[in-house]
Amino acid sequence: MANICVKLNSSIAPASRILGNAVSITSQRNSSWWSDVKMGPPDAILGVTEAFKRDQNPKKINVGVGAYRDDNGKPFVLPSVRTAEERILAKHADHEYAPIVGVPQFWASAIELALGADSQRLKAKHNATVQAISGTGALRIGAAFLSKFWKGNREVYLPAPTWGNHIPIFEHCGLKVNKYRYYDPKTCGLDFKGCLEDIMKIPENSIILLHACAHNPTGVDATPEQWLELCNVIKKKKLYPYLDMAYQGFASGDVDKDATAVRLFEKEGLDFCLAQSFAKNMGLYGQRAGAFSMICSSAEEADRVLSQIKILIRPMYSNPPLHGARIAAEILNDPELKAVWLKDVKGMADRIIDVRAKLKNNLIKLGSSRPWDHITNQIGMFCYSGLTPEQSERLTKDFSVYLTKDGRISMAGVTSKNVEYLAHGMHEVTK
Ligand code: LMR
Repeated sequence: MANICVKLNSSIAPASRILGNAVSITSQRNSSWWSDVKMGPPDAILGVTEAFKRDQNPKKINVGVGAYRDDNGKPFVLPSVRTAEERILAKHADHEYAPIVGVPQFWASAIELALGADSQRLKAKHNATVQAISGTGALRIGAAFLSKFWKGNREVYLPAPTWGNHIPIFEHCGLKVNKYRYYDPKTCGLDFKGCLEDIMKIPENSIILLHACAHNPTGVDATPEQWLELCNVIKKKKLYPYLDMAYQGFASGDVDKDATAVRLFEKEGLDFCLAQSFAKNMGLYGQRAGAFSMICSSAEEADRVLSQIKILIRPMYSNPPLHGARIAAEILNDPELKAVWLKDVKGMADRIIDVRAKLKNNLIKLGSSRPWDHITNQIGMFCYSGLTPEQSERLTKDFSVYLTKDGRISMAGVTSKNVEYLAHGMHEVTK
């Protein structure tokens, strides 16, 4: 850095002596402000898409990110969403700020979709609900609230494995993250015994995160009976549940069936946090339409909680974006359009079920001797294939099949056109 000199009482003195610390520190550093910042790794999921885009192989497949594609491998805009957009455009709506809590017609119908129109606690206004920046933003609001107000054990217990982003969401809010057993690599299914054993050992008054349906990354869910058992243990251990429902409708094709766990917790009288996303079930990925709710013990408590959620949101992003919420509101508040949407959701879920069977059959046809039943047993958007990190890396390097290192395959990226090639690659790397 050039030594700036200042004229002082006709003698020349270095500016560093006059300006004190500020200048001397910068001149000592002899480098830029951020020279200590280390290069970070690419995101474990979104980084896969970046690498996929750089690949020139015409046969390349992206089964990394959980984003639905049609059978031509193209992004899919739901017919119900197209109609909603046309209607919104025709309304010539303004672009004023949304309230801090978001578009009322959106968040009110979002929580109704989760709890069901007949929910007693919804009728009694036990919910504090706000629009959120999709599922991640919803989780983040809840984490910020818990960080500020949680009086119990400041630890969040996550299933092992879980969606990678869950960990920094809570850690960045100053909460410690721990794991409970969930997936059994031997069966590629649920380790229910291990899960219960671990939950029984969690210190009382801790927070437990549960994937409400279509567990990400494993595609392994508890049965309704197992959910009831989980609910009872959580109650007994005085744990505070945080339900993440990013895939309502995607697990079974039926939004009510997929809400079984959430509705059970509500009916069993548990208070809980709920994060919802409309990225997958409405294909509104980039519109960031989500909702965050806290189901409280009374309407009066919900009012107080909501007032504090608003205070947290205001300095984070002030108020949420309008367009995606308007689309979802248009769909959810018109019974006819909602019926079209429910068919759209079922169509997406069914296509995934279909390519699961095709992938398994192709592997068998190729003579793979490994068991692949879990491909069709697992549900939702993902197949936790059982491929090792080395096999996953080879699949990318030798076959241009892009997936996360944990062997998770987004079945939404598999089509009737690329399934044979994918099976061939999987067979080759698992021989
Ligand atoms: C995924 O798991 O692929 C999706 O939820 C997208 C994301 O943001 O990670």
